Amino acid sequence: MTTDVPSELAREPLTDSPWPLTSARDDAGRLRIGGVDVADLAASHGTPLWVVDEEDLRTRCRAYVDAFPDVWVAYASKAWCAVGILQIVAEEGLWVDVVSGGELHTAKVAGVPMDRVVFHGSNKSLAELRMAAQLGVGRVVADSFEELERLENVGDELDHTFATWLRITPGIDAHTHEYTRTGHDDSKFGFTLSLGLADTAMRRTAELRHVDVVGIHAHIGSQIFGTDPFVANAEVLIALLARWRDELGVTLAECNLGGGMGVRYTSADDPVPIGRYGEAVLAAVDRACEEHGYPRPQLAVEPGRAIIAPAVVTLYEIGTVKRLEGMTTYVSVDGGMSDNIRPALYQAEHDVALVNRSVAGELEVCTVVGKHCESGDLVRDRVPLPADLAPGDLLAVAATGAYTASMASNYNRLPRPAAVLVRAGEVRTLQRRETYEDVVARDAIL
Ligand code: LLP
Repeated sequence: MTTDVPSELAREPLTDSPWPLTSARDDAGRLRIGGVDVADLAASHGTPLWVVDEEDLRTRCRAYVDAFPDVWVAYASKAWCAVGILQIVAEEGLWVDVVSGGELHTAKVAGVPMDRVVFHGSNKSLAELRMAAQLGVGRVVADSFEELERLENVGDELDHTFATWLRITPGIDAHTHEYTRTGHDDSKFGFTLSLGLADTAMRRTAELRHVDVVGIHAHIGSQIFGTDPFVANAEVLIALLARWRDELGVTLAECNLGGGMGVRYTSADDPVPIGRYGEAVLAAVDRACEEHGYPRPQLAVEPGRAIIAPAVVTLYEIGTVKRLEGMTTYVSVDGGMSDNIRPALYQAEHDVALVNRSVAGELEVCTVVGKHCESGDLVRDRVPLPADLAPGDLLAVAATGAYTASMASNYNRLPRPAAVLVRAGEVRTLQRRETYEDVVARDAIL
């Protein structure tokens, strides 16, 4: 089922709707976000358009910081790495997690303090590690034996010592989409605990002069709704720290617990509120520390989607409506898998709503599709929408802030959409729309 945009703002903040915090319908049924009429935005900025509710984004940053007192909260910038987004999250006091030279460069341009940058990635190149050393990033997360050697070599070359976390694969199988689980043993990420790789890595670092292991990290996966897997992860990590103290004589002072809680993409999704999630994880850490007599380490968490996903909607204009008697009604919009690959890649479902007029009268089950030359180019399968939907109407898709713009492509040579930031009636451009010139800019003419 689809949920419609709430008609007023009196609702439990952050938890009960996939739509941005300031979204509301006016008397004519038109959606407003940040005090701005989205139909006006479509007219002035074109569609598809990502509309970012700045109030929502900042509120989510604060909710995380409040839920995790004294914890380093790092925004996983892979969710959406744009200069303006990083400026806002850094202003709200978050650290930034990057996984490539490109994300690191974006953080630099955004003016993120480099000592608050965490450099992840399962195969960082020598060039990327040199960049990290030269910029002085706060923490590097080592993911493999090869990378430990690379860090040592780059450190030797540049006379730099990397403050390093070892990425542990803790053997926790979070029940989420196959492509977004990372903590189970048979994973490409990290040092597998059950096979003894984490111990071997820790021992090896004792011989390295430029790799200073100050902590450990584990990320078990994404779009997880309950607290149990996060609690289990915390228990495994503290137990490991205690065992290394006992067996190796090292007391590491930092522990990064990985990515954040899942989010509400549709009204059927039911993530645990951030406050309860924070309480459960921090209590688990305290319990485990007490049990093992281990001093509570400096903790870090690195949410991505929970910070940015629900703050954003994608606006599309309907181009065609095709009704097949006894079969499907296809509603085609002016974007699709090039600006949101999630439905095609993970069978993700996002709520969809008609937003340029009120939703009155009969509903009809429709399949909303994109304009790409593929049958898998889905926006939302079988969703009830007003039966009088017509070309020219505007649809909004909820919770598209994470892993949409950042995974966007030029498939079929569609220029990537623009993104705007709205707040208190003001509109600022976050990313301009690509042009056809941009689309061919990298092509050599033979
Ligand atoms: N930390 C690490 C090491 C990660 O690999 C990730 C996500 C995060 C933190 C942030 O996780 P989050 O809080 O956003 O769940 N494209 C997929 C998600 C891929 C997640 C990659 N890593 C999707 O659209 O669902």
